Amino acid sequence: EHSALVLALWALIGYLFGSVPFGVLISRVMNLGDLRAIGSGNIGATNVLRTGNKTAALLTLLLDGGKAAVAVLLARAMAGEDAAQLAGLMAFLGHCFPIWLRFKGGKGVATFIGLILALNWAVGLAVCATWLLAFAIWRISSLAAVAAASASTVWMAALGAHQLLLLGIALTVLVFFTHRANIDRLRAGTEPKFGGKK
Ligand code: G3P
Repeated sequence: EHSALVLALWALIGYLFGSVPFGVLISRVMNLGDLRAIGSGNIGATNVLRTGNKTAALLTLLLDGGKAAVAVLLARAMAGEDAAQLAGLMAFLGHCFPIWLRFKGGKGVATFIGLILALNWAVGLAVCATWLLAFAIWRISSLAAVAAASASTVWMAALGAHQLLLLGIALTVLVFFTHRANIDRLRAGTEPKFGGKK
C-alpha cells in the first residue's frame, strides 16, 4: 500500500546513509594517512586495520555497519518491511558506489552485516559467526567475507527468514562483484593474510 514515492524516498535515504565513507573520514581525522594509498586501497575496516590502528578499524566497522542498520530501522519504523529491505540494499549500494568518491567506494562487508542484523538479528548473528569462523581458519578478510555472504542465504532459509532470500541472493552476488580483485588474488594464492609472517 506504499506509494512508489515513499519507497523512492527510503531508497534515497538508504543510499545517502550508506554513502558516508567512515573509513576515509576516521583515518583522516586520526591522522592515519590516505586510506586509498595504503594496503589494498579499500575504504573499509580491514584496510584501516592495515594502518595498525585497531581503534580506528573497530570504529570504521561499527559505523559502516551502524549506518546501514540505522537506515533499515528508520525505514521499518516509518514505512514498513519493504521500505526497510530497500533502504538496506540502497545503503549497501551507497557504501560500494558513493557519489562523494566518484562511485569508487568499499566492498560492503560491514554494511552487509549491519543491514542483515537490523532486518533479522538471528540471521545477522549467524552471518557474523560465519565470518568469524572463516577468518579464524584462514586469516583472510576477503575469504571470510565471500564465505559469510554465501552462507547468508543458507542461514535465511534455515532460520525461516524466507522474505529475505531475494535480497540475500542480490547481496551475495554484489559481494562477489565488489571482491572480484580479491577473488583473483585468492585464486592466484597472493591474497594477504592477517597475523602471519611479517
Ligand atoms: O571488507 C572488505 C574485505 O573483505 C576485504 O578488504 O582491504 O582486504 O580488500 P581488503
